[in-house]
Amino acid sequence: MFDHLDLLPADPILGLSQVFAKDNCTDKVNLSVGVYQDDNGNTPVLDIVRRAQQIMLDEQTSKAYIAQAGDAGFLSGMSELVLGPIAALLATDNRVATVQTPGGCGAVRIASEVLNKCNPGGKVWISTPTWANHQPLVTSAGLTIAEYPYYDRNTKTILFDDMMAALRQASRGDVILLHACCHNPTGADLSPSQWDSLADLCKENGLLPFIDFAYQGFGQGLQDDAYGVRKMAQKVEELVIAASCSKNFGLYRERVGAMIFIGSTGTATAAAKSHALSEARRSYTMAPYHGAGIVGYILNNAELRTDWETELANMRGRINGMRKRLCIGLNQAQSSTDFSFIGNQWGMFSFLGITVEQVLELRSKYGIYILESSRINVAGISDSNIDYVVEKIAQTVS
Ligand code: LMR
Repeated sequence: MFDHLDLLPADPILGLSQVFAKDNCTDKVNLSVGVYQDDNGNTPVLDIVRRAQQIMLDEQTSKAYIAQAGDAGFLSGMSELVLGPIAALLATDNRVATVQTPGGCGAVRIASEVLNKCNPGGKVWISTPTWANHQPLVTSAGLTIAEYPYYDRNTKTILFDDMMAALRQASRGDVILLHACCHNPTGADLSPSQWDSLADLCKENGLLPFIDFAYQGFGQGLQDDAYGVRKMAQKVEELVIAASCSKNFGLYRERVGAMIFIGSTGTATAAAKSHALSEARRSYTMAPYHGAGIVGYILNNAELRTDWETELANMRGRINGMRKRLCIGLNQAQSSTDFSFIGNQWGMFSFLGITVEQVLELRSKYGIYILESSRINVAGISDSNIDYVVEKIAQTVS
């Protein structure tokens, strides 16, 4: 049977790290996959995760199944983390339902299955560009794709007027896939007033926002990064959120995420949740406990939560500091391109705005790995490699 199958190419993001691992270049730098690295180039287990994990293991008395929707402390903690005070307001009418998922990816996929149940083959509008895995996740569930302009590669700014003009053409019931913060791959985020206008449009035209919230706390802060999500939650009747704990808790391999459904009534919300549980059941039954349990302990203990917020702030500070140093360094080292835009963007990613040939040259000559789109992961830059990275990019673009 398997000899009928074609060999598929490696994943454009995950596959590149495998190539990087085999590269013998002694100065090599991995700026490809979106994983946080500290100044020593490590992706550490957070101290807070070690502490919470130990408490959890000490208190654990069974490995029996937990509730199908997930760990209770994780679910309440996540809806409060994502929605803030709005979670309690919506809860009075049972308008919010949270289900644990295997990572943010699992949330996007299972929520897409639920959306496809609501409107089989329905349209999901995605930003141009967006994360490379959005389209496969959404279309695998049976939904179809339309695109809205988002980022101008020449001016390095958001094409907000064009985005709004495109979304005005969307039909009632269409789904709009958005990035809550730290837009992947551009790093260009909507401003609060742009979110306000977008929320008005979704409300007026009956569009359903589906927000990927993979980087809460990696941009401007836990609360600021949630502005758009919470604005939508206040404004529209129906909303879907896919949240991830990979980055802000450093729990990548544990696959921890949540999908949050907000419906127009308690009955509608319960129905959406029931379909999510049913979709999960026929795929993986329920999400793994371990990482979600850790997050539940952290979010429900005041001392652990404070310490987590401090550790998260340190990661965010390092990323934002590196952004500033990178754009200053590049602007000093060459004069053909103005890289100031890197300092105005948020999260781990930015497009350098260089050609595929230049990307491949950086890889083959200097062992500097970035995606072919020219997306870099700023968190892969450190004290020890920043001079090398700046020098080689400057040489390549000059
Ligand atoms: C990325 O964009 O690099 C991350 O979200 C990792 C992934 O799964 O693609």
